[in-house]
Amino acid sequence: MNKSIFITGATTGIGFELAKLYVKEGYRVGVCGRDLTKLPDPYRSRFECYELSVTDEQALKEAIVDFHHKGGLDIVMANAGISHGSKSKLPDFKVTKQIIDINIYGVLNTFAPAISIFAQQGHGHLVGTASVAGFVGLPGASAYSASKAAVISLCESYALDLKHLGIKVTAICPGFIDTPLTKKNDHDMPFLMSVDKGARKIKKAIDKGRNLYVFPWQMALVMHILRRLPRFMYRFIMTLPFANYSK
Ligand SMILES: NC(=O)c1ccc[n+]([C@@H]2O[C@H](COP(=O)([O-])OP(=O)(O)OC[C@H]3O[C@@H](n4cnc5c(N)ncnc54)[C@H](OP(=O)(O)O)[C@@H]3O)[C@@H](O)[C@H]2O)c1
Repeated sequence: MNKSIFITGATTGIGFELAKLYVKEGYRVGVCGRDLTKLPDPYRSRFECYELSVTDEQALKEAIVDFHHKGGLDIVMANAGISHGSKSKLPDFKVTKQIIDINIYGVLNTFAPAISIFAQQGHGHLVGTASVAGFVGLPGASAYSASKAAVISLCESYALDLKHLGIKVTAICPGFIDTPLTKKNDHDMPFLMSVDKGARKIKKAIDKGRNLYVFPWQMALVMHILRRLPRFMYRFIMTLPFANYSK
């Protein structure tokens, strides 16, 4: 029987590109998003589509259970996410709460029903889309950095906690990928990668069952260094104009 993958936030960007790759490989692909009209016509019939917000715990649970009942469930990817767009020195707490709601609670709402299903069947693979932004507190992106740090930690703990149930866990940490999300950015985006290349790399990491995949390597290296710097040095570097990526 064909394998099945359910991807949240797959009406555009990384999720959509991944959904296309998996369909091409013969997978049953379930996708969700708040607005399915964003999906180009042919794909609406190639994917099993659910129009919902990942913040709607019940609707998302019903969608994942429904998708599983119709043909099984092997991989669940919590990919839906939003960002600040422009960086601001003054936190906007309304936006902060939206980001936390979608990027953290959305991931929990995705993983919870998947874990129940995987635990019963004795196998399954959880994938969380985090970000390199989760390794440090980036200036002007407090909520986004915090939300992605949560996804990285959640995946790391789940990998340990759920192993005995036959559940694999992968955290994906992309640098800048050219998608509608980054099109809104008004700052420089070093090492920006095309979405089709990014999706191919992510799929490879999922297929290999990687625990943590950070890419591109240049961004992985930068983050590795920033994370290990004494914090006073990190704070100093981040006050330099180039580090703020402000245009
Ligand atoms: N692009 C990058 O450089 C980059 C780097 C690191 C990490 N990421 C992460 O990668 C993931 C995908 O981002 P992307 O770049 O592909 O952005 P994108 O093109 O804006 O895609 C985001 C997807 O999430 C969906 N979405 C947003 N809020 C949702 C909600 N409440 N419920 C259900 N679906 C929702 C959107 O669909 P609807 O609007 O139809 O709901 C869309 O399909 C995000 O988690 C993002 O943080 C991106």
